[in-house]
Amino acid sequence: MTPLCTWPLSLLIHCLPLFLTQSITQSPSSLTIPPGGRVYLNCQVLGAGDPFMYWYRQDLGGGALSFVSYSVSAGSVQEMTLSHFNADRGSSIDFSLTSDGAFVNDSGTYYCAWSRTGKQAGGTSQQELRIVTRNKGSG
Ligand SMILES: *[C@@H]1O[C@H](CO)[C@@H](O)[C@H](O)[C@H]1NC(C)=O
Repeated sequence: MTPLCTWPLSLLIHCLPLFLTQSITQSPSSLTIPPGGRVYLNCQVLGAGDPFMYWYRQDLGGGALSFVSYSVSAGSVQEMTLSHFNADRGSSIDFSLTSDGAFVNDSGTYYCAWSRTGKQAGGTSQQELRIVTRNKGSG
């Protein structure tokens, strides 16, 4: 049993791919808030440098995927289609959507994606946002 990563060639062959692996995650994985509540959806891409990042949304239960926003690099947002939301590319790895007062019809599945260029796809992830009036009398 030879341990991996013990000398330079082995390091290159076995370990470099670990550092080149990209991941995309959205947090929280789902969010349920009442109408008028605050929304914070974050997407984080690791291992891809400073990629293009995108947001899309779809109504819960299906329907068309609609474009929300994209950013070509840290600190810049190129387009934003939701009027009462704010898109913020806080760093090379983070792209967030926030709202101070969500409507019931903002409920949906929110998709984040990244790419190295405007064409080449990298990866996607998703999270669910539910704006619902909570049942009364549940304590
Ligand atoms: C979503 O709901 C809000 C508040 O009721 C309304 O003003 C807005 O027009 C609705 N948006 C769509 C796309 O239906």
